[in-house]
Amino acid sequence: MTSHGNRELITVAHPAALAATAAEHLLACTAANSGRIAICLTGGSSPKRLYHLLATEPYRSRIPWQRVHWFIGDERFVPADDPLNNMGMARSAFLDRLAPASNIHPIPTATADPAGSAALYEQELRSFYGADTLDPAKPLFDLVLMGVGPDGHTASLFPDGPALDEQARWVVGVPRAHVAPFVPRVTLTLPTLASCRQMLFEVSGRDKRAILTRLFAGENLPANRARSIGETVWLVDREALPENFGGQ
Ligand code: 6PG
Repeated sequence: MTSHGNRELITVAHPAALAATAAEHLLACTAANSGRIAICLTGGSSPKRLYHLLATEPYRSRIPWQRVHWFIGDERFVPADDPLNNMGMARSAFLDRLAPASNIHPIPTATADPAGSAALYEQELRSFYGADTLDPAKPLFDLVLMGVGPDGHTASLFPDGPALDEQARWVVGVPRAHVAPFVPRVTLTLPTLASCRQMLFEVSGRDKRAILTRLFAGENLPANRARSIGETVWLVDREALPENFGGQ
């Protein structure tokens, strides 16, 4: 593990190692909390391998399913059973078989517009948290999983979008996505995502090399602005690492 711009960087050899390392992080987060645990999942293709892994041994038996609550950091504004739905993907990969239904907290999308969904989810998060203001001494989430898009977005916080600067609201609607799929989005805001003990990015594959080069050079992009009030860890596989990065 190395430290790079105030975040820890863990490099692994390949996507299978990335998923296994992410699973160990998730287990460590659950082991560190003997009470109610909150995990904020992410969408996209990067976490799929991890989600499938969590449904297999030895991971499955080590997760205290009754105590873990599962949230999602951003959602595509499509019906819950649409293949593009982020929580739908996580549900079919592992949650529906293993988590109590009342512990799964999807962003509702059967609303008039993304702003309506955002308001409902914000209410749900506040009520789960038990307060209307986030206290740094009491993070909302134990773990927040994140991915990085080709334009440097994370969750559905796109470069130059107004959602990026939102400080008061916990969740906002995003009428236009900057990258595919071009459907409106609903996203947790930076202060909400930051309210966690650990934020864990998973970045894998050659396609991510160009954006990682820009991010590691310190460009002011959403993924660089997403930081936990606790630990921020970037888990990157060899294919995604910028060329000649740190001599590796
Ligand atoms: C989404 C995501 C998004 C994703 C990145 C990376 O709804 O699309 O939550 O932020 O994490 O775009 O996506 P990939 O993992 O597919 O590269």
